[in-house]
Amino acid sequence: MKISNKYSLLIFVLTFFMSIQKISNQTDTITTTQILRDGETIVSSGGIFELGFFRPGNSKNRYVGMWYKKTKVKTVVWVANREIPVSNTSGIVLKVIEPGLLVLLNESNGGIIWSSNTSRHVKTPVAILLDSGNLVLKDANDDGEGNFLWESFNNPTDTLLPGMKLGWNFKTGMEAYLSPWNNNDDPSSGDFTYHLDPSGYPQLVMKRGSDVVFKTRPWNGLGYSEMPNLRQNLIFIYEVVINKNEAYYAYGFVESIISRYVVSPSGSAQHWIWISRTQSWVVFSSAPTDNYDRYKVCGAYGSCNIDNSPVCGCLDRFLPKDPEGWDRADWSAGCDRRTSLNCQNGDVFLKYSGIKLPDTQYSWFNESMTLDECKVVCLKNCSCMAYSQLDISKGGSGCLLWFKDLIDIRQLSEAGQDIYIRMASSELELKGRNKKVLELILSLSIGMILLGLSLMLYLRRRKKRNHRLRSCGRQGHNKDIEIPMFDLYTISKATNNFSVNNKLGEGGFGPVYKGLFEEGQEIAVKRLSRNSFQGLDEFKSEVICIAKHQHRNLVKLLGCCIEGEEKMLIYEYMPNRSLDLILFDPMQSAVLDWPKRFHIINGIARGLMYLHQDSRLRIIHRDLKASNILLDSDMNPKISDFGLARCFGGNETGANTSRVVGTYGYMSPEYAIDGHFSVKSDVYSFGVLVLEIVSGKRNRGFSHRDHHHNLLGHAWRLYKEGRSLELVNAHLDVSGYLSEVLRSIHVGLLCVQQCPQDRPSMSVAVSMLANEGLLPQARHPGFFTERDAESSSSTTTANSKNQMTISLVEAR
Ligand SMILES: *[C@@H]1O[C@H](CO)[C@@H](O)[C@H](O)[C@H]1NC(C)=O
Ligand SMILES: *[C@@H]1O[C@H](CO)[C@@H](O)[C@H](O)[C@H]1NC(C)=O
Ligand SMILES: *[C@@H]1O[C@H](CO)[C@@H](O)[C@H](O)[C@H]1NC(C)=O
Ligand SMILES: *[C@@H]1O[C@H](CO)[C@@H](O)[C@H](O)[C@H]1NC(C)=O
Ligand SMILES: *[C@@H]1O[C@H](CO)[C@@H](O)[C@H](O)[C@H]1NC(C)=O
Repeated sequence: MKISNKYSLLIFVLTFFMSIQKISNQTDTITTTQILRDGETIVSSGGIFELGFFRPGNSKNRYVGMWYKKTKVKTVVWVANREIPVSNTSGIVLKVIEPGLLVLLNESNGGIIWSSNTSRHVKTPVAILLDSGNLVLKDANDDGEGNFLWESFNNPTDTLLPGMKLGWNFKTGMEAYLSPWNNNDDPSSGDFTYHLDPSGYPQLVMKRGSDVVFKTRPWNGLGYSEMPNLRQNLIFIYEVVINKNEAYYAYGFVESIISRYVVSPSGSAQHWIWISRTQSWVVFSSAPTDNYDRYKVCGAYGSCNIDNSPVCGCLDRFLPKDPEGWDRADWSAGCDRRTSLNCQNGDVFLKYSGIKLPDTQYSWFNESMTLDECKVVCLKNCSCMAYSQLDISKGGSGCLLWFKDLIDIRQLSEAGQDIYIRMASSELELKGRNKKVLELILSLSIGMILLGLSLMLYLRRRKKRNHRLRSCGRQGHNKDIEIPMFDLYTISKATNNFSVNNKLGEGGFGPVYKGLFEEGQEIAVKRLSRNSFQGLDEFKSEVICIAKHQHRNLVKLLGCCIEGEEKMLIYEYMPNRSLDLILFDPMQSAVLDWPKRFHIINGIARGLMYLHQDSRLRIIHRDLKASNILLDSDMNPKISDFGLARCFGGNETGANTSRVVGTYGYMSPEYAIDGHFSVKSDVYSFGVLVLEIVSGKRNRGFSHRDHHHNLLGHAWRLYKEGRSLELVNAHLDVSGYLSEVLRSIHVGLLCVQQCPQDRPSMSVAVSMLANEGLLPQARHPGFFTERDAESSSSTTTANSKNQMTISLVEAR
């Protein structure tokens, strides 16, 4: 700790001219004249705490610290110079100097090793060790309660003692937080910090660096909601205070129990109490309680239940967003409501019991509202996702509202609370329908005729709800595909009878319409043109390829509709439509700042990696391009249009075809020329997309006044000359993201290399994008002039000028 020259001089003078007394036995104060040396201690008046020099564990260093006087096991609760150890304490003293500083001083040269940073100056400063374990600095002539110049309670190390406040003083802007020792031999701050987070309803947050490791939940009047031990223990009292001056957590015990709340070097927050009968410490509670206490381990709306295997599940009426991920124990994508919300039509709230309440970072609370008032407020605000009671002791009171997705939920056996979660109103009807099933079972016992009747009724009802399950892709070779089947009437109604106004565009095999289900869900309907033979194959291919595969970066198939001549696929609707409409539009592209573009690149990469490697069937998309990347409301990319995709089992990685289909500008040389397609031809298309996203320009149709290269050729020229940044769209501000930008261009170029073997696989590309490692030099790309591409094939259709998917009959 640095101190001004004025003070150093003062101290120097003091050291030389003051007569220095030894600490007398059993005092609790240090003054300007009473000095503490190694081997001496001061003790609080009630004999509870002791302050002096100590050596931790097997360390060679000595520190000034505080420990319990009475416990046999020396337990240090505070360290003054935790970051600045002293190896030889000869001539080192702890003393108080004017104008009110507590210092650790080297008498031989007047150097200050450690100092309290006091803000106020007084004439007669004195340091006193209180029985609470608070070492305070005050004016000896001022008996005002709490009128301290400085106190160790505001400067904690790893331990929270009863009466200490963990949190914020908003007036001084100071935060008291805990950080553990590095290890038992070294009290300097370890990796972890333990804070009170005052945003929303206060929570205690364990961080490692800037990462959140775990959060403890709102106090519900009975103790932490996830720490059942605390509820039964009536002697434990705690306080959570939040007002405009301060926000803090503090605790105490009714009986005089020796206790401490400590963050261990491994990042666990432990409450210890001293058992005098056995003369030992025992852990009273500890967080995290297990590995699955980790912050949001199960993702949004996921619920962790340690008694289950796997431990993560979705809350009732929720489904995994990324089922394949769940199969691999990657729960981070979390869950979605099985029925989307529709706030305008009136949502409802359903009660979930026995859970550790979700993260309250985005929450709001009112301590005096009733639960009914709480519900009304939450219902009115469409972004309010749930509500619960704030204080469940004494009959319950208060209101806690959650905004944004609910994360970090846990199923608890005994101490869980009730929470009311926003649901589509149709979920209530669905519950009603389950009752019908029950009735149906009852009627079994009544008689066969009755059964027959009710069965008929029941089937009718289900048919009305149009979610009839039937095999949809049975013509394909994969027999067990089951996706929801919608009837034509429903689809026709949802799309205003396929009105021109609802038409979104032309997909691979027919028009695409926007639709709206009665429940409020928006859909996109791909309708197969009648009498289209080619279209039928593509329809089947799409059903087979996508039905079984769900990933957050693949567009979600909701179902299909096959009636008579009509064949349709029903998808979730993507409000931001396709990437090309935004990326290549000079006005619209402004919404795509670099972080969004990078997010899109990474999303596409992960979606494609999933198709190539993660799913049971290997899928080669064959028509990856900007217009087949759809964007949801948060600009998350979703790969769509699987009409040209091919599925492979086992180890097959590619094939040859005599019918080359794809889109110019995105087709790799080996595919366009020889009809050979493989995962690496998709990688090539991905590389083109990356360069398009960075530059905002189409590969095809790109022209430069200095050369006849296409975008790939241009990018490669710049890369070779070390000028890659010139490729970036002129309107894009990439300062601050230079390494990400350069890395993206580099990976893009690696993906479009001429030789398929040279191109990385998608999993390698994903990790190249994510990590800082060195990348191999890129070799020259395939098709870096327009002419290469066109002369390569004997038939060029008129379509090739725009970005339509084309079909070439290859003459080989
Ligand atoms: C500590 O330093 C003093 C002089 O500053 C010296 O006499 C003494 O030997 C040293 N002790 C150790 C253990 O090094
Ligand atoms: C104290 O000062 C003396 C003289 O400058 C120096 O030799 C010694 O290392 C200092 N001790 C500490 C612990 O800094
Ligand atoms: C004391 O020092 C700490 C760390 O340098 C700083 O955060 C804090 O604001 C200081 N307090 C005062 C009262 O100056
Ligand atoms: C909390 O609710 C009570 C009762 O509804 C109301 O009087 C009070 O103004 C509310 N407080 C805040 C801060 O909204
Ligand atoms: C809903 O609540 C959020 C968070 O408190 C607030 O920002 C937003 O303005 C509210 N919306 C309405 C319509 O009241």
